Amino acid sequence: MAKRKIITGNDPVLRTVCAPVQKITPGIVRLLDDMVETMRAAEGVGLAGPQVGVLRRVIVVETEPGNVYRLINPEIVAQSGEQEGPEGCLSLPGESGCVKRPMNVTVKGLDPDGNEVTVEAEGFLARAFCHETDHLNGILYPDKAEYMNTPDPDPEGEKMTPAAYRRHRAAGKKSR
Ligand code: NI
Repeated sequence: MAKRKIITGNDPVLRTVCAPVQKITPGIVRLLDDMVETMRAAEGVGLAGPQVGVLRRVIVVETEPGNVYRLINPEIVAQSGEQEGPEGCLSLPGESGCVKRPMNVTVKGLDPDGNEVTVEAEGFLARAFCHETDHLNGILYPDKAEYMNTPDPDPEGEKMTPAAYRRHRAAGKKSR
């Protein structure tokens, strides 16, 4: 396994709709292993292909240490309920926001051996699958946020509207 570089900020790679994996090659299996190593090194709970510069539909998710999902061509096929909570992203370091997500999702995909996998996810795990599958469609969580927290330490704990956040990003300001 090898750690890969995480793409951050306004890179257009993060805004690209990824292509499905047609054939599970050794390169794809290695990619998934590298993504797990990269995610753990960065202390994240999920990572998607475009975040390491690979425009393929692959994700890794690990919300409980040791319980790691490596999914190829993942799809959310059912969802129910609602939760609202804080979210961040390894590609937008230092930022966080409040995002509404379904409380329960059913995710289908392939494991690295090509077996069909169905995951019933709830709560934080459901949130992670929603966040990572969004990445495959060029969607970042601020697109869906109720509000973004101010990127700079602010004793007032001020919140940014999504529009203010977009202006902030467009200006290319650093988060810290
Ligand atoms: Ni992310």
